[in-house]
Amino acid sequence: MKVFIVYFSRSGRTKKLAEQINQKIPSDLEEIKDHMNRKGIIGFLKSGNEAYFNSIPLIHPLKKDPTKYDIVIIGTPVWANNIASPVRSFLKEYKDKLEKVAFFCTSMGSDPKLVFAQMGKVIHKEPVAVLNISSRDERNRLDSEMIDHFVQTIKKSENEKIKKNDR
Ligand SMILES: Cc1cc2nc3c(=O)[nH]c(=O)nc-3n(C[C@H](O)[C@H](O)[C@H](O)COP(=O)(O)O)c2cc1C
Repeated sequence: MKVFIVYFSRSGRTKKLAEQINQKIPSDLEEIKDHMNRKGIIGFLKSGNEAYFNSIPLIHPLKKDPTKYDIVIIGTPVWANNIASPVRSFLKEYKDKLEKVAFFCTSMGSDPKLVFAQMGKVIHKEPVAVLNISSRDERNRLDSEMIDHFVQTIKKSENEKIKKNDR
C-alpha cells in the first residue's frame, strides 16, 4: 500500500501529528506551503478570516504527486471551526483525483465533525478514517492510542480492498 501524508501546520502541532502517524505507517510525508506570512496576531487574524470565508489561497506545487498513491492522509489545524485555508486549496486542487482519503486535524477542542464533513465535501470523497487530537487529548495522553486506532482503521480498509480484488 502506497501512502502519502500531506498536511498544513502554522504552529507545529499538526506537523507533529503527521510525523507521529508517519512513524506508524510507512508513508511519504509532505507539508503544504503557501505564500502568506501567518505569524503573530495579524497572521492569526488573517488565517481565521480566510477559514471563515472559505478562501482558497495559492499554494506551492507539491514535490510528490498525490494521485500516485493508494491512500492520501490529509491533515489540517481547525481554524474558526473550519478547514485551514491552505488545506482547502489542496482539497480543491485534488477534487475527484484521489483513490482513497483519510483525514486528521488538531484543535483546541472544537467538535471536528463539521471540519471533516467540509473536507469530504470539498474533495468529493468520504474518508476511510478520521482522527482529531485536541489539546485535552494530548494533556490526557490519549493521543498515542488514538493514532494507533486511526492507523489500524486505514490498514483494515486497505486489506479489505486487497481481499475484494483477490476474489
Ligand atoms: C486562526 C486560528 C483559528 C483557530 N480556530 C480554532 C477553532 O475554531 N477551534 C479550535 O478548537 N481551535 C482553533 N484554533 C486552534 C488550532 O486549531 C490548534 O491550536 C491547532 O492545533 C494548531 O495547529 P498547528 O500548530 O499545526 O498550526 C485556531 C487557531 C488559529 C491559528
